Amino acid sequence: LLRRYQLFYYPRDGALEMFDVKNQRIFLKRTKHEDIQLEDLFVGNRVNLFSRQLNLIDYGDQYTANKLGTKKERTLALIKPDVVTKMGDVLELIYAANLIVTKAKMTKLTWSQAADFYAEHQSKPFFNNLVQFVSSGPVVAMELMGDEAVSIWRKLLGPAESSLARKEAPQSARAQFGTDGIKNVGHGSDSLAAAARELEFFFPSTIGHGPSNTAIFTDCTCCIIKPHAVSEGLTGKILNSICAAGFEISALHMFNVDRANAEEFFEVYKGVVKEYSGMITELCSGPCMVLEIHGTNAPQSFREFCGPPDPEISRRLRPNTLRALYGKDKVKNAVHCTDLPEDGVLEVQYFFKILDG
Ligand code: CDP
Ligand code: MG
Repeated sequence: LLRRYQLFYYPRDGALEMFDVKNQRIFLKRTKHEDIQLEDLFVGNRVNLFSRQLNLIDYGDQYTANKLGTKKERTLALIKPDVVTKMGDVLELIYAANLIVTKAKMTKLTWSQAADFYAEHQSKPFFNNLVQFVSSGPVVAMELMGDEAVSIWRKLLGPAESSLARKEAPQSARAQFGTDGIKNVGHGSDSLAAAARELEFFFPSTIGHGPSNTAIFTDCTCCIIKPHAVSEGLTGKILNSICAAGFEISALHMFNVDRANAEEFFEVYKGVVKEYSGMITELCSGPCMVLEIHGTNAPQSFREFCGPPDPEISRRLRPNTLRALYGKDKVKNAVHCTDLPEDGVLEVQYFFKILDG
């Protein structure tokens, strides 16, 4: 059910108020709310107010648009096959530059999809090699958002030729992780118009189209990087830890889980664990990153790598586990992992077949 509201924000005390546009009445009276800050209020963002997901679709008036909306842009960032296993490092650069990831998905392009994507380079001598390379393995497409996102992401990438990047922009991603002119870490839209087109290619507004996810649904387990960890900017570090421990990430997708789906996914915990309702609220409090981890015995070995559910206990007993390193408390414990080996495939299917069907 979608409803339209006007959302008021009072910078002086951080209070919020919602006005029901259709019924012309106050829906939520002026209330303080710690979790939403002025920086969160820009068109295209999604915020969570008392478990209600609000999509910010427009500014209330021209003054607000001028104050809040001037430089916010979205761009497409594509992580090319050469660095998919180092995507954590690339995400670290993105977060350090104050950009946020608002969509993400791992996919594998066919030759003709890659050729469509790079149609502007059709007549260039490197076209065939480029298309061949980009379709040779999984890529991760992301929507980045922030002030001047288009140019900032291109600056983070650096010059297309990696050796030139090492000379001219030694801090850039291509300088640090690139190999040559083709294996050069990533792609970034070069204008707002290109960004709109390229985002539509990977994240089409019509459901059910666009390149599909890479989940394989065998010998796998499900990992959810929880919303608190995503919003704390820990995604890069967590992905790095997972890869460094030797796990293969065979699919990745960012989701905004709504309450009904969170309840369905965590149903087996209902009446079993005390934290059940906290877990639901946490899972739908913002975007989360869902992974398929692939390997023999993936559910058991990955669960061990996550550590005990309570990060305090993890820190004492298993200090190198994900929850020890990145968790805060029993609910905000950085990651969910499949508990029972036989549920691995089912949990992966829930996200990568049912929610991303
Ligand atoms: O990726 P970027 O926008 O920085 O560069 P581009 O000029 O739009 O070229 C697109 C891609 O084609 C580059 O990222 C390279 O992977 C490849 N390319 C190449 O292989 N040889 C060249 N001389 C130029 C580009
Ligand atoms: Mg380009």
